[in-house]
Amino acid sequence: MKFSKRHFAIGLAASVAVVAGLGIATWIVYEPEIPKIPRPSVSSFDRALVARGEQLATVGDCIVCHTAPNGSPFAGTRALPTPFGTLYSNNITPDEETGIGNWSSTAFIRAMKQGVGRDGSHLYPALPYEHFTHVGDDDLKAIYAFLMTRQPVLLQAPENQLLPGLGFRPLLAGWKLLFLKQTEFEPQPNESAEWNRGKYLVDGLAHCGGCHTPRNIAGGEEGGREFAGGVAEGWNAPALDETNPSAASWNADSLFAYLKTGSDRSHSAAGGPMGPVAEGLSRLNDADVRAIAVYVDSRMHPAAVSGAQAPVIDNRSTAAAGHPQADLLFDGACSGCHGERAPMSVNGRPLLSSASDLKADDPRNAVQTLLQGISPPGEKGAYMPSFSNMLTDKQLADLLAYARARFTDEQPWKDLDESVADIRKENDE
Ligand code: HEC
Ligand code: HEC
Ligand code: HEC
Repeated sequence: MKFSKRHFAIGLAASVAVVAGLGIATWIVYEPEIPKIPRPSVSSFDRALVARGEQLATVGDCIVCHTAPNGSPFAGTRALPTPFGTLYSNNITPDEETGIGNWSSTAFIRAMKQGVGRDGSHLYPALPYEHFTHVGDDDLKAIYAFLMTRQPVLLQAPENQLLPGLGFRPLLAGWKLLFLKQTEFEPQPNESAEWNRGKYLVDGLAHCGGCHTPRNIAGGEEGGREFAGGVAEGWNAPALDETNPSAASWNADSLFAYLKTGSDRSHSAAGGPMGPVAEGLSRLNDADVRAIAVYVDSRMHPAAVSGAQAPVIDNRSTAAAGHPQADLLFDGACSGCHGERAPMSVNGRPLLSSASDLKADDPRNAVQTLLQGISPPGEKGAYMPSFSNMLTDKQLADLLAYARARFTDEQPWKDLDESVADIRKENDE
């Protein structure tokens, strides 16, 4: 082909674009290292600041992800399975070799808001910086003061095990470009101070959307579908907007009780991944938990009045006709706790007709409740045994179909047998 002037012009334009593109890419990917500092002494931090930091760290669930089962608090190495492989949380005690002992508060704030480590490498969004980016610097400085005054622990997190190619951290710069919206929290002047406080905590440190918002295939939270319901560790995190199956019966008081104690008399208990969240919130001051409840209530009830009593539903005879064996099984295995005259019901524990899990479109959480049981987040509270070893998949599916027919007016779940078998298999993996 003859090389014409025109081709040359196009060629030049293209190469300029490529070079400029590379320049932009490098500029986005590159983050400088922030120099090490000598570990600050414990006495250099104000006590009141440390105490505030402790409460804020509680809201952020730092301890949940940064502590291995039976491990030292904040020393990391907990395995976090993601669709892209397994990540290990870092040691965030002030150990100088393996923790964040040499990090300045500037480096810490950059990690929390921009997902960049002290050495300039990009961090995975398993650290929920999509949310922490909205937290004010003063609050982050308080958390920094709290962490830097903990006992240093020498412990190196194992290497992450990700799908081939995804271990290359600069890729994360592109991810951030698409999904990380680094905006400061903006109070809404027409809402109350309490509502604004709740929104600040929910969107930021408490990262409720991290589980309750659906994610796209790249693992980013879906824009415009905030709180439409997501997944976490094999459970569904129900919607926290007006599509929540129990929206009509949640209100600020019941949300407050649920968030603070892990259960509420007119709703069921936090049995899955919500358990540790509630356990954390139980140590937060009442005013902040109430603010969160007020904000979530407003999301569930954009216009309507909230807090109607959930109607008590008990279609026993129809349910028994469809599932005679489950009716017997329920009497034997469940009614000691869930029957009308069971001490638990008499003492005001919720009836199964108020359980969100039975009303949900997807049986997943009801299946998990039977397979895993419920253990109280704190020392005492709601307890239900696991039926995983006691009942076959068939019995479990039959019982759930029965409970759905008896305690709700919803359509029967489809393919329950399969769901029970699948979820049991997932749990064993
Ligand atoms: C949902 C789990 C989760 C929560 C909650 C969480 N983190 Fe992390 N965090 C991680 C993971 C996973 C990493 C490692 C990411 C990586 O390897 O890129 C990490 C990394 C970090 C790092 C970077 C450490 C380093 O050496 O590079 C800091 C600092 C940190 N987290 C602090 C916090 C604080 C403070 C909180 C609470 C306010 C918190 N994290 C809450 C999962 C979590
Ligand atoms: C030892 C007592 C006990 C037994 C036995 C028991 N449960 Fe439960 N169950 C509980 C408690 C406690 C809760 C949580 C309710 C609350 O306090 O919020 C619960 C909750 C549930 C929920 C609702 C979960 C949710 O979060 O929405 C379902 C469904 C359920 N149980 C089904 C059963 C079935 C079916 C059986 C029999 C196979 C059974 N339970 C046996 C104590 C028990
Ligand atoms: C680690 C993931 C995760 C985080 C973070 C999380 N949740 Fe949940 N949440 C769940 C899951 C899963 C459930 C379903 C039941 C369970 O786990 O017991 C749930 C249940 C709930 C329910 C009960 C809904 C119903 O109708 O039964 C409410 C209310 C709730 N969460 C509010 C919150 C709020 C507010 C926050 C932030 C302060 C939050 N959650 C943070 C995973 C999470």
